[in-house]
Amino acid sequence: MAPTAEFAVIGGSGLYALLETAEDHHVVTPYGATSDPVTVAEVAGRKVAFLPRHGREHQYPPHKIPYRANLWALNELGVRQILAPCAVGGLRPELGPGTFAVPDQLLDRTYGRVQTFHDSGAVHVSFADPYCPTGRATVRATAAEQQLAMVDGGTMVVIEGPRFSTRAESRWYAAAGGTLINMTGHPEAVLARELGICYTAIALVTDLDAGVEDGAGVTQEEVFRVFGENTERMRTLLLAALGGLPDEPTCGCAAAVPAH
Ligand code: ADE
Repeated sequence: MAPTAEFAVIGGSGLYALLETAEDHHVVTPYGATSDPVTVAEVAGRKVAFLPRHGREHQYPPHKIPYRANLWALNELGVRQILAPCAVGGLRPELGPGTFAVPDQLLDRTYGRVQTFHDSGAVHVSFADPYCPTGRATVRATAAEQQLAMVDGGTMVVIEGPRFSTRAESRWYAAAGGTLINMTGHPEAVLARELGICYTAIALVTDLDAGVEDGAGVTQEEVFRVFGENTERMRTLLLAALGGLPDEPTCGCAAAVPAH
């Protein structure tokens, strides 16, 4: 059966819709309802699914997002590559607000979130490289065409939240090699991997984290404001990148899942 959508965007804070003329899909999953109905629209001749990870009213905080339902639903629709824009803090002074980055590593500091579809049997996916190299290369090339500066690589620390980090935690994450920090990048990335779906995070830095700057610390207001100021840039990047993704997979992401 032809997929309903081959590509997907999971939108973060401030990106609650991608295209105006889209069709709603209410996918039933064994893990309950998705954050919102999945909408499918055509971008550059391709069927693209969109799902706002917090819900369109931003009703799900990071630790309550139905990650398994969301990923399951996209898989049901036939999605094979996800572009995942997200608001992040910078853990290095040079990664200030407004910076775009395609991270290549992830440091999971979440707890209490179910991060697998496999509660029985032996299914241990390879996760050494959590992000799709083809997706990252496409986003980088698209950004270059748009003369949008894009940091190539970085280690995204994913914390449980919903609070921001203390200065000591923030310095510790930086000392451990973290360069970016957010609350939603995991388990989204590993659930995609378990389903053999390519996953590409596109980070937009909205703030310098508490350990990097001497100021008052991160506030929700600045995160939302800076994301809002850059939403159109992110949308333009996403729409062009979706058109630039190769017709056939050229990476090994799906092969990282053992036969089961
Ligand atoms: N999302 C945006 N900025 C963040 C920060 N500094 N820490 C955690 N999540 C974030």
